[in-house]
Amino acid sequence: MADLSVNFAGVYSPNPFWLASAPPTNTGEQIMRAFDMGWGGAVWKSLSDPIINVSSRLAGTDAGARRMAGLSNIELSTDRSLEVNFKEMREVKRRYPKHAVIASVMMPAERPLWVDLVKRTLDTGCDALELNFGCPHGMPERGMGAAIGQHPELAEQITSWVKEVSHVPVLVKLTPNVTDVAFVARAARDGGADALVLVNTITSIGGVDLDTFTPRPSVSGRSSRSGYCGPAIKPIALFQVSRVAQSGANLPISGIGGIETWRDAAEFILLGSTTVQVCTSVMHYGYRIIDDLCDGLSNYLDEKGLPNVDALCGLALPKIGAWEELDLNYKVVASIDQETCIGCGNCYVACRDGGHQAIIAARHEGRTRVEVDESRCVGCNLCSLICPVHDCITMEDRSPDLPPRSWRDVLAGKGKTAEVTDGT
Ligand SMILES: Cc1cc2nc3c(=O)[nH]c(=O)nc-3n(C[C@H](O)[C@H](O)[C@H](O)COP(=O)(O)O)c2cc1C
Repeated sequence: MADLSVNFAGVYSPNPFWLASAPPTNTGEQIMRAFDMGWGGAVWKSLSDPIINVSSRLAGTDAGARRMAGLSNIELSTDRSLEVNFKEMREVKRRYPKHAVIASVMMPAERPLWVDLVKRTLDTGCDALELNFGCPHGMPERGMGAAIGQHPELAEQITSWVKEVSHVPVLVKLTPNVTDVAFVARAARDGGADALVLVNTITSIGGVDLDTFTPRPSVSGRSSRSGYCGPAIKPIALFQVSRVAQSGANLPISGIGGIETWRDAAEFILLGSTTVQVCTSVMHYGYRIIDDLCDGLSNYLDEKGLPNVDALCGLALPKIGAWEELDLNYKVVASIDQETCIGCGNCYVACRDGGHQAIIAARHEGRTRVEVDESRCVGCNLCSLICPVHDCITMEDRSPDLPPRSWRDVLAGKGKTAEVTDGT
């Protein structure tokens, strides 16, 4: 059986699954229950001062019948006093010495404020600090959260203040609301960060009530920009994690963003994460999803013959490069399995109106069926993505017998590219 335990920048955890700083980590009671159910670590709900919040706080984005594919929130830091949080954190660490207990902290960019909060937090015996440079709502207006994460110099400066006083690893949580996350990642490294955590939420408006014209979530008829998270943000988070992994920052990464199943987690690990954190899925389904996460990842590692999480970490990264390195001679076309096709016509309409008119309606043995005109198919994948029948439309390799040729090769006058046919 693969070993799921990890050593993340000096923080030991029985498995790579941590609860992200959010409502699932509001209290010691919750975190201890989560540890009992199998979670390896927890990043405590962000501590700050003063403590202020509004009601209501959340807006969901449904995707068809799927509820809360995305979640927007305008919650700030903890609702409870620092003293109560410290007391419970101390208790959790005492009772669960082998689990990772990480304290999330955020303050405005003033050294004494950071030093004071950090020192008081360290007294709890927590295993690490996570600096919240990512909250995109409410906090930036007061010079906190994303206001720091959007300024590399500030991020570096504050990280170094914390490093001066911290005897435990300092994790920096980054905001995705930047042009290029690599700059802040390297700045945090220069400030002395021991690890990077991403993503925090993406700036959003959760929706608009069409009767009252009030954006969601509504606070007495008004709203504000919110932070978006949940399954809908996974592709953005995966990119950002890979970007940081390839940024040269050279620090361990804790990946976050829409993780719901072990497969999601494995993708984050393949792109360079050593631990992963989960918020929305636990808010939706509860702590019990940890069973699937642990069993699934453990079986997957076994299947792949990998002894531990470290062996999986980053294996997909060498396969991400610049567009101009891609092989222009590679060619796929759609293939429709007539045995399993239910004749819904979705692929025909999508390809006709939103694609390349490569799917035709043909008469066959007295009935109409959809077929692919390979001379028009550019291999975009669209039909296979919308087909309601699993594996009914697959993409088949029709590459010519030519060596790979990239756009770089074309510019350098090297190699030969297959003739492009568009069926006209
Ligand atoms: C209601 C709510 C409150 C949150 N509070 C915090 C917080 O206090 N500190 C923090 O760093 N991130 C906070 N987050 C962000 C999460 O930790 C996480 O980065 C984000 O939700 C993406 O993960 P997910 O897609 O699994 O939800 C919060 C998210 C939600 C939905």
